[in-house]
Amino acid sequence: MTPLDKLVQFLRIPSVSSDPAHAADVRRAAEWVAAELAVLPRVELIEAPGRHPLVYAESLTAPGQPTLLLYGHYDVQPPDPLELWHSPPFEPVIRDNNIYARGACDDKGQTLILLTAVRQLIERDGHLPCNVKVLIEGEEESGGEHITSYVPAHAPELAADAALICDTEMFAPGLPALCVGLRGIVYGEIHVQGPAQDLHSGVYGGVAPNPLMAAAEILTALKNRDGYITIPGFYDAVRAPSPEESRAWASLPFDEEHYRRTEVGASALTGEPGYSVFARTWARPTLEVHGIRGGFTGEGAKTVIPSTAVAKVSFRLVPDQDPAIVVEQIRTAIAAATPRGVTAEFRLLHGAPAASVDPAHPLIAKAAAALTQAFGRETVYIRSGGSIPIVGLFREALGIPSILMGFGLPDDGLHSPNEKFHLPNFHQGIETVKTFLNSL
Ligand code: BES
Ligand code: MN
Repeated sequence: MTPLDKLVQFLRIPSVSSDPAHAADVRRAAEWVAAELAVLPRVELIEAPGRHPLVYAESLTAPGQPTLLLYGHYDVQPPDPLELWHSPPFEPVIRDNNIYARGACDDKGQTLILLTAVRQLIERDGHLPCNVKVLIEGEEESGGEHITSYVPAHAPELAADAALICDTEMFAPGLPALCVGLRGIVYGEIHVQGPAQDLHSGVYGGVAPNPLMAAAEILTALKNRDGYITIPGFYDAVRAPSPEESRAWASLPFDEEHYRRTEVGASALTGEPGYSVFARTWARPTLEVHGIRGGFTGEGAKTVIPSTAVAKVSFRLVPDQDPAIVVEQIRTAIAAATPRGVTAEFRLLHGAPAASVDPAHPLIAKAAAALTQAFGRETVYIRSGGSIPIVGLFREALGIPSILMGFGLPDDGLHSPNEKFHLPNFHQGIETVKTFLNSL
């Protein structure tokens, strides 16, 4: 089977980790990954009750050589809304050199780059040029509890010189990038409770508190119209990027108007005045609302004051913001903003700190050289606004940096309908990783 046949097979497994109805599919994806790693001397599925399996493998046959910890995730985001897909999310199709499916880029295609590079080197040479430990998880998109407890508890076994992760994006087509900063996250729900039951809005409107209005009031009290988060103390730990980093961002090839039109697709960009798009998406924290549940959302009209409302929200964090402190600040701010007649509670779903990588690390220079060789262009150093929760823990528990070598493209549609992966990037990614491993 070619690597592309393998990718199609992998993408057909609907491993949606957040949905209990897909638990068996998630396990099937773990087993698929383990089978793919069977070329290594040791491979195993690591189980924990109520958790999706971790896949661990290793090849420690290069004494004196560095050890890399390869990380990826085999789980995917939910495919919804299904009606917006041009082809079913778990029936991959290829159009114009792109493969379309949920997880094509994030992160099955990119995880398979690592697995394929390792397999091809072993098949060619009988062994790897360096030592490799592989840890692939199935909960990255839904909180990562399993790996979060596993890594600190198995730090000596996971010892390595650096982690290698393909789960980020290039800056532009054909322009290779190393990601040296990711935002952290605090994800939670604001639960608002008002009247004991749903009420007729004509009979009680004017006296009964409305939890949906209260949720809106709370949300707008947390962030102002300029995108500034008004929670006391929230920015205390936030620091500006260094002048060198800001200068490097300013020299990236970037047309804000084109970005607005083609990537964002809205009539205007929003956010804090005085900060560039890069600063706003990479170096400043944010608050976003993902969904609001409550009241009547069916067709037509129904006059009701709902008894409850729930808003799903997340805060993206930047380096030095502590998720635990932020959660306390959020709770205090919500309490202060809660109007009379309702109660509001913040329920934390998951959190992870931001991560940054020292661009001067010698392995980063080797990674950049491998990328430059494969793509024929100088590698740029960027950050990303997304989060890969384990990166912070690799630093904290294992003391290692993560080399974030991404092959996604800005229009790959991660987490969106019609997610795709550009097949030339899949193949160049495999070549890059092989070059990198050989260069150690
Ligand atoms: N691969 C993404 C993160 C990413 C996307 C990094 C684009 C760089 C560029 C990752 O799988 C992801 O989406 N993570 C979630 C984590 C969250 C659910 C804890 C995210 O960022 O929303
Ligand atoms: Mn991912």
